[in-house]
Amino acid sequence: MRIVLVGPPGAGKGTQAAYLARNLEIPHISTGDLFRANISQGTPLGVEAKSYMDAGNLVPDSVTIRMAEDRMEQADAAGGFLLDGFPRNLGQAEALDTYLKGKGISLDAVLDLEVPEDEVVKRIAGRRICRKNSAHVFHAEYSKPKTEGVCDVCGGELYQRDDDHEDTVRKRLEVYHSETEPIIDYYKAQELVVTIPALGKVEEVTQRAMSALGRGE
Ligand code: AP5
Ligand code: ZN
Repeated sequence: MRIVLVGPPGAGKGTQAAYLARNLEIPHISTGDLFRANISQGTPLGVEAKSYMDAGNLVPDSVTIRMAEDRMEQADAAGGFLLDGFPRNLGQAEALDTYLKGKGISLDAVLDLEVPEDEVVKRIAGRRICRKNSAHVFHAEYSKPKTEGVCDVCGGELYQRDDDHEDTVRKRLEVYHSETEPIIDYYKAQELVVTIPALGKVEEVTQRAMSALGRGE
């Protein structure tokens, strides 16, 4: 299956992507995680991306599209994937369509995680992620690690993302409304969008998403 996850910052895309990718046995491709891995390795791409991310802006399409396509190539796009955080504007959505068309394949669904803004702010304020693997995500209240400050999965140190401070979060929400939301209409026109109410327990949201994909129990 080829799936795109959309939703505001803090909606739970990364959290859901980890479960969905495991259940569906497809690779989880997160452009945010790819940028963070480049930042921690100090690559030129990471250095460029960091200034945009810290300001809450989108990294330019020229950089992002190539990185996402390289990762899809590596994953063998025809075998399926779950995209988390890409595409994030109309230019990226069009580039993805062109890329998939070139391979004679298409998307199966776009899952739109719907969460009220006050909940998103709470989720981001409490988020702690693992220094060794940013796909290991916790929350100071909702999803506590067994030992404070330590990742349950790999023992890595948990920290708060540089772009999770209040001003940057406000900017990221603004960018979401102006640049990312229009892709929902773009995909509605292709009849690909399924809205998933994303309040409630993590497992409940996963179940709703699996049912929407026709893989419910
Ligand atoms: P990215 O890393 O993609 O961030 P984002 O879209 O802002 O989304 P988040 O990672 O903040 O949230 P999420 O929805 O994954 O929520 P999570 O599962 O962690 O992008 C970061 C930056 O990179 C961008 O601002 C941009 O600069 C750049 N970038 C990335 N992709 C780009 C692109 N395509 N083009 C250009 N630039 C790009 O959950 C949040 C918290 O809530 C966690 O603590 C979690 O434990 C908790 N939680 C999750 N689900 C629940 C639940 N059901 N109940 C209670 N708590 C929950
Ligand atoms: Zn970890």
